[in-house]
Amino acid sequence: MHTVIKEGCFVRLHTMLCYLLRRGHSPLLCLWALLLPLASLDRPSHRGSRDYLVTERPKLLLVSFDGFRWDYIDRVPTPNFRSIMDTGVKVEFVENAYITKTFTNHYSLVTGLYAETHGIVANEMYDPVLNRSFSMETDSVYDSRWWEEAVPIWVTIQKAGGRSGAAMWPGSDVKIHNMYPTQYLPYNASVSFETRVERIIEWFSAPEAEAVDFGVLYWEEPDESGHNLGPQSSLMDVVIAWIDEKLGFLINKLKEAGLYDRVNLIVTSDHGMAQLSPEKIIELDEYVSRDLYTWVDKSPVVGILPNEGKLDEVYNLLVDANPNMVVYKKEEIPQHYHYQHNTRIMPIVIEAKEGWTIMQNRTGPFMLGNHGYNNSLRSMQPVFVARGPAFRENYVKSSMRSVDLYPLMCHILSIRPMPSNGSLSNVQDLLSIEPTVTTPVPPHPPVPPPGTGYSCAPIVGSFLGVVLVLGFLVVYVILVTLKQRPSRKHRSWEMSQPLLQEDLHL
Ligand SMILES: *[C@@H]1O[C@H](CO)[C@@H](O)[C@H](O)[C@H]1NC(C)=O
Ligand SMILES: *[C@@H]1O[C@H](CO)[C@@H](O)[C@H](O)[C@H]1NC(C)=O
Ligand SMILES: *[C@@H]1O[C@H](CO)[C@@H](O)[C@H](O)[C@H]1NC(C)=O
Ligand SMILES: *[C@@H]1O[C@H](CO)[C@@H](O)[C@H](O)[C@H]1NC(C)=O
Ligand SMILES: [Zn+2]
Repeated sequence: MHTVIKEGCFVRLHTMLCYLLRRGHSPLLCLWALLLPLASLDRPSHRGSRDYLVTERPKLLLVSFDGFRWDYIDRVPTPNFRSIMDTGVKVEFVENAYITKTFTNHYSLVTGLYAETHGIVANEMYDPVLNRSFSMETDSVYDSRWWEEAVPIWVTIQKAGGRSGAAMWPGSDVKIHNMYPTQYLPYNASVSFETRVERIIEWFSAPEAEAVDFGVLYWEEPDESGHNLGPQSSLMDVVIAWIDEKLGFLINKLKEAGLYDRVNLIVTSDHGMAQLSPEKIIELDEYVSRDLYTWVDKSPVVGILPNEGKLDEVYNLLVDANPNMVVYKKEEIPQHYHYQHNTRIMPIVIEAKEGWTIMQNRTGPFMLGNHGYNNSLRSMQPVFVARGPAFRENYVKSSMRSVDLYPLMCHILSIRPMPSNGSLSNVQDLLSIEPTVTTPVPPHPPVPPPGTGYSCAPIVGSFLGVVLVLGFLVVYVILVTLKQRPSRKHRSWEMSQPLLQEDLHL
């Protein structure tokens, strides 16, 4: 297998050499330019070809089926979820981030941070410092400033020399800290699940020098159906079975591409779904005039921005108004929500009790399912299954927090995590005890695991280096000599080129 590396390098070096000399560059410059790539030969990254499975960097694909509640897999046969669990791990109780909304939790999954720290505190926000509003329904999503209180994992991977690919994950088509994922699809809800999968597969199975190490894949269901039908509807059974088929499609595509046993696959979600009822509506207009406040975020956790000087008045009107909601001044929000220390969290936050809907009045759209409630409610919690070379087999863990996923993913990918609210030690038991994973996590760029094929690279590199240096010294001396001969002064580089090419065959 070493010969393939060597041959590859020789061919590449020779091509580059001919090119540089033809362009008339000075031989010393060429020498420098050619030695540069050699410096990277001893790195594990992408010098080898796809023939080297052993030496390949770890791969990870994170999939989110929006609103896939933890217990959906037990409602109808879900053979594809089962097959991941049987050959991998399952976590029964995943405490996600408060508020249990889509944008908030997708950003927690890829940053390991609570909402108050990563700054995407809701799907609808107002930032009094920026004097800007954010809505997941508008182009405000593409304003980087909303996202830059945190660094998503794809940015960290790319800064460590890796590559990532994103298919519709919230925030993944936004420029964050000056970077997009290496490969990504601009958000378009009409692009089918199958198309998203095919793109992800292409990115993972590109030649090793271009293949992504990390992928995120997002699908809008079963969230949409859960909102419309309500999670208790028997029609949801059909939707769940259909999602399981989608997962089956992904598994088959991974298998066809020879990726299934090489890629670590995590299938999870941002939140669950609670059943609502038209009998459980709280109408704020009954208690407080709309003239006193701005309604920033929607039910079931409502952000209220009182008009200047009206904070206490609005609070007093609401605090004991209805037993099915809890009204907090910002500083009273319970510590365990980790939902306080951010200017985007409104001065008054109202949380509905499970199953209740807060509206201003009864006109307007009403949904039969919703999420966003207290993150310790069972109904708010997502599914979590995973398999792959890094994971144990047929292992069930009782609980984790979704912020723990981030350090786990960084560990699998061998990148140094940013500071986060998660902890690897909480989830380390999900991992197989394999010698190829080194602890502690090495600094970037990732170093190769001991005992793999890369150990030959430095030798090859040094050998090539010595050959090149000697070769160039000889050529340089010849050239200098040629140049100094008066009779040859009129010769151009082009004319002397064929001679050089002959001499330099390596
Ligand atoms: C905030 O922006 C709005 C327009 O979007 C403007 O009318 C208002 O004056 C601004 N407020 C401040 C305090 O700058
Ligand atoms: C979104 O995707 C659909 C289906 O592939 C396509 O027809 C449509 O043109 C896309 N929209 C945009 C804005 O790219
Ligand atoms: C309810 O609110 C809407 C605006 O959201 C308003 O047009 C309508 O008149 C209100 N209905 C009642 C009965 O107050
Ligand atoms: C979450 O992590 C961030 C980054 O390390 C830290 O600043 C913040 O205080 C942490 N929050 C909690 C509740 O520990
Ligand atoms: Zn969601």
